[in-house]
Amino acid sequence: MSKSYRVAVLGATGAVGYELLELLASRNFPIADLKLLASERSAGQKISFRGENLLVEAVSEQSLENIDIVLASAGGSTSKRWAPKAVEKGAVVIDNSSAFRMYPDVPLVVPEVNPEAAASHRGIIANPNCTTILMAVAIYPLHRVQPIQRIVAATYQSASGAGAKAMAEVQNQAAEILAGKEPTSEIFPYPLAFNLFPHNTPINDQGYCEEEMKMVNETRKIFADQNIRITATCVRVPVLRAHSEAINLEFSTPFSPDKAREIISQAPGVKLVEDWHNNYFPMPKEATGKDEVLVGRIRQDISHPCGLELWLCGDQIRKGAALNAIQIAELLVERSLLNPQLASLGNL
Ligand code: A2P
Repeated sequence: MSKSYRVAVLGATGAVGYELLELLASRNFPIADLKLLASERSAGQKISFRGENLLVEAVSEQSLENIDIVLASAGGSTSKRWAPKAVEKGAVVIDNSSAFRMYPDVPLVVPEVNPEAAASHRGIIANPNCTTILMAVAIYPLHRVQPIQRIVAATYQSASGAGAKAMAEVQNQAAEILAGKEPTSEIFPYPLAFNLFPHNTPINDQGYCEEEMKMVNETRKIFADQNIRITATCVRVPVLRAHSEAINLEFSTPFSPDKAREIISQAPGVKLVEDWHNNYFPMPKEATGKDEVLVGRIRQDISHPCGLELWLCGDQIRKGAALNAIQIAELLVERSLLNPQLASLGNL
């Protein structure tokens, strides 16, 4: 009989947690035992998994005993507190938060791009930022053929990036506005319904917000190329789920759009969606619930002989978070990388 694993989902009651459970079931992940962990607030709640009602527990030292894989999606401070403890107890943690992403000892993995990086883990593997994952899957196949020199990205990010409560907030705001009332905001700093605003993360001295710097630093780490020049403008838009991105790529020599189309149509994790005659290209509505990142509008940049433009949409909760984490777990299983003896905390 093939081996099965003791899995814990930390943040099981959240938007990504919900999707993690759906993917564990639909992809038939070999589970011997499944633990659902969240905060005290949700302890005692029941969630159905493969027809069974499982009890949600508050995360604690004891709840992390006898676990092989922790899939964590409960925010940075929760990961900082509990991931090292889970590793100490013998688990491998696949962490969705930004807490450990830039630690030199922690691999930052997109399985279609740098699966080999997972092998060097010391107990924690980081799942990259959602916007970064979507861009990386779409442009890495081109980068492999002809190295990208510079990336200029503009993002159109849905409410789902801020969690289940943020999605509900936008729906409530829309209802309030349509009823002639002032919209109320608790999660987001400003009303998002019928509006948009630059990404609501802290801004650095250069004027870049954290989300933009994640795209810069994480892409370089995933591509193992510190020389790519990257700039981004990240914007929240009133879309419930699935992010969109306008990407301008610069190469050292021209990259023909037809060649790019051919490469993208054969690349893993991406789907070419282009009907120029009908002006039909990727839309967040159509990317929602899909595993693939939809890519289209591939065209020569008319302002630069070595420039290429493309447009993409991808489900932030799925490939941008939960699916990527499950693919990492599958990779660990396939390549026998779960051996707790190999894991040591290093300098976390
Ligand atoms: P809870 O529902 O108990 O608050 P989302 O990103 O959709 O907002 O979900 C966040 C997830 O992280 C939820 O499952 C939430 O659990 C969990 N979470 C938030 N804070 C903590 C914490 N301090 N300890 C454990 N889980 C937490």
